[in-house]
Amino acid sequence: MREVAIIGAGETKYGEHWEKSLRDLAVEAGLKAIEDSNIYAEDIQAIFGGNMSAGSFVGQDHVGALIADFAGLAETKIPAMRVEAACASGAAALHAGYLAVASGMYDLVLVGGVEKMTDLPGNMATDILAGAADREWEVFLGATFPALGAMMARRYMHEYGLKIEQLALLPVIAHEHGSRNPDAHLRNKITVDTVLNAPMVADPLTIMHCSPVSDGAAAVVLAPAELAKKYTDAPIKISASAVANDYISLHSRPSLTTQVATVEAGKRAYKMANKEPKDIDFVELHDAFSIIALEALEDLGFAKKGEGIKLAEEGELNLGGKLPYNPSGGLKAKGHPVGATGVGQVVEIVKQLRNEAEGRQVDGAEVALAHNVGGTATTTVVHILEVM
Ligand code: COA
Repeated sequence: MREVAIIGAGETKYGEHWEKSLRDLAVEAGLKAIEDSNIYAEDIQAIFGGNMSAGSFVGQDHVGALIADFAGLAETKIPAMRVEAACASGAAALHAGYLAVASGMYDLVLVGGVEKMTDLPGNMATDILAGAADREWEVFLGATFPALGAMMARRYMHEYGLKIEQLALLPVIAHEHGSRNPDAHLRNKITVDTVLNAPMVADPLTIMHCSPVSDGAAAVVLAPAELAKKYTDAPIKISASAVANDYISLHSRPSLTTQVATVEAGKRAYKMANKEPKDIDFVELHDAFSIIALEALEDLGFAKKGEGIKLAEEGELNLGGKLPYNPSGGLKAKGHPVGATGVGQVVEIVKQLRNEAEGRQVDGAEVALAHNVGGTATTTVVHILEVM
């Protein structure tokens, strides 16, 4: 296996893009990544695109071929495929692209992610997103994704005595960081009181514990690490790309407070990168609901079980703290266009590791971890990236 590096990255602004279609968003991000890589679009040898549900959101399937065509690459006849793992589709596409370059099959691979979610009314988006859970055993019985997140939060509060005002610290930090990110969907700063007094979505989670429904796209270009400096002075190495799956339904799992897929993907990633949690300078964690990120802080080894929130209480998750958390604003504030999210987390890491994250830079960062989840941590993908 060859070592793999990212030589270019790009993304659209996240938010409501009434004026742009799915293909516009994907092509915009892809062309930005290609331009950033100092290559020509015709140099790309394969495309892997993360997308959860364009068929349901905008009535468009066959997304890989569509994007290649509208990027002007139909002429080159390159393979272009969609990768789907619910909200982890983006990171799953990156895993596929990583394998394609590591194997020696291709040298220059474009990995993208895209979702166009806001063209439909909220209740329809909620139903489409519920397709990431077990339709027969969870969704038909009334569980939406916020409801499943709420059950995880209730159980965690019961087992570890967490107060909802403590959990509220995570969205407060996410919005603080998102307010500094010009590409973020929600750029307003909030307080614990804002979180507690916001409209209830699924008790105990108010709207401020939930990621928004967003449109957006993100892309990176991969190359063999040994060739990367031919294209850029600042390649970023993918030191680990690991995926794990768990039972799809919450009721099949031994615990609602430990994400087994996150524990496993984390262990595999640390081993592959030859790193430990203490080596990680900052994280982009999947905070679709605050509780998922809190559990992940513990399941990835940054805190003991039940003690993750102390990191927030002690200020360690802020910029300037020991483990800055979601400097992009995370899913909560940057936004969550589901198929794009995992790639977008990595775009943020690339900017940070190149010292280009103006206004929200994690000073001196050299190693970072991205955690992207499909379903209720049914699929977890962990990437570790570092400067070369
Ligand atoms: N956090 C903060 N503000 C939010 C928000 C969120 N999650 N979602 C919407 N808003 C804001 C909007 O910007 C809008 O503000 P404005 O009036 O100033 O323009 C306002 O709230 C109403 O927006 P609307 O789109 O009507 O909200 P909604 O009630 O239809 O949807 C949720 C709110 C929480 C139900 C929706 O965002 C949601 O379903 N989130 C979870 C998505 C999900 O499950 N993702 C997959 C997870 S794995």
